[in-house]
Amino acid sequence: MTELDLVIKGRVLIGNEMQTICIGIEDGKITVLGKDLDGDKFLDYSKYLIMPGGIDIHTHMRDPGFTDKEDFHTGTMAAAFGGTTTIMDMPNTRPMVTNVSQLKDKLDIIGKKANVDYGLYASLTPDSDIKVLKELAVGFKLFMAETTSAVPISEEDIRNKLADPELEGQVVSVHAESPERFRDIEVTSLDTHDDSRPASAEIIAVENITQMKTSAIMHFAHLTDLMSFEKAFGYSNEITPHHMFLSTSSDLGARGRVNPPLRNIREQASLFTAFVKAQVGIIASDHAPHTMDEKKMPFGEAPSGLPGVETRLPMMLALVQSEQVSLRLVQATCCHNPARLFSLSKGQIDVGFDADLSIFDMTKNTKIKGERLHSKCGWTPFEDYNAIFPDHVFLRGRKIISDGKLIESGTGRNIV
Ligand code: NCD
Ligand code: ZN
Ligand code: ZN
Repeated sequence: MTELDLVIKGRVLIGNEMQTICIGIEDGKITVLGKDLDGDKFLDYSKYLIMPGGIDIHTHMRDPGFTDKEDFHTGTMAAAFGGTTTIMDMPNTRPMVTNVSQLKDKLDIIGKKANVDYGLYASLTPDSDIKVLKELAVGFKLFMAETTSAVPISEEDIRNKLADPELEGQVVSVHAESPERFRDIEVTSLDTHDDSRPASAEIIAVENITQMKTSAIMHFAHLTDLMSFEKAFGYSNEITPHHMFLSTSSDLGARGRVNPPLRNIREQASLFTAFVKAQVGIIASDHAPHTMDEKKMPFGEAPSGLPGVETRLPMMLALVQSEQVSLRLVQATCCHNPARLFSLSKGQIDVGFDADLSIFDMTKNTKIKGERLHSKCGWTPFEDYNAIFPDHVFLRGRKIISDGKLIESGTGRNIV
């Protein structure tokens, strides 16, 4: 038998059981799993947890147009340091990605900046040419309401667009907030921001979308209210760590301003409970960095959005370590389900899947510090929250993080 390129040994969740196994890797793919395997290179992480690399289907890497906040190099570096090996980037860059030449330009600009694998969304607008866009885009984004640097489209236009048969089998990620339910009040705090864009706006938006005819795979981004989950039953859904861990009672001021808004502490707790009870499909960060200077502006002028691509998985692992949630649930919501939604051969430690692996010492619980993170924005809403960051990260069998340092950059590929 020929030797494998690489064998990595460590603790892997197989079914419901932790087992110490060897992962055999060739040409970037997992080719065999076994108790004992030989390889040209053998890495023994027997004391460590090996997880599939995380997949974050909702990030804003800000490149091009807003590179004072983030760029594709820093954003994907932050992902890698957080054990996330695939990200999907939203189209509200400048220019907004609505046609194929904008999408091609963006791919050119990204060039070799990506440190993890990536896919780009295109924005769904009344005149977007779905037939050509779908060849290059990982999916489509639908903005129903005004939000940072995004132009919403009317429900009438949405109805027409979703009926396009070219959308068959394409993922459409919906920012579900119905502007008719917004209240024109002065926004000076997390509470008033929540009042101005109440949960009822989300619930009605979800309901309206589910009544439209489409052959697309509809996915509801960053849901905040349990009623929205009921309305979205049978559809793909996502929640964010910030809606799960933070509320209008958090002491964040404008740093906590985000769309949809943080809700009150009761609603936050019920979202967390829904996650623990496995009622949530996907956890995505909605990594939306803004500079500290912007966030220091008066509340009503500060932009909405907060960073989170690097902390998403490490915070989940801290919950696993404190036995609040199971590793199985974390892997499902952060790896398998995102991969399944987009039919990727990633997100699973099994034969035939990409060898994207994140390796954690589960005894190394640390406190998150904004200054140690890698996003260009330089801050986090989760300062001092518990987290376990990976020591080593592999992207298609290549080590990109070693002992907590980025050792190879620019190896990320477009997954489309
Ligand atoms: C996002 C941004 O800043 O790009 N802001 C946010 O509050 N989530 C846009 C968005 O996803 O709505
Ligand atoms: Zn959004
Ligand atoms: Zn977003």
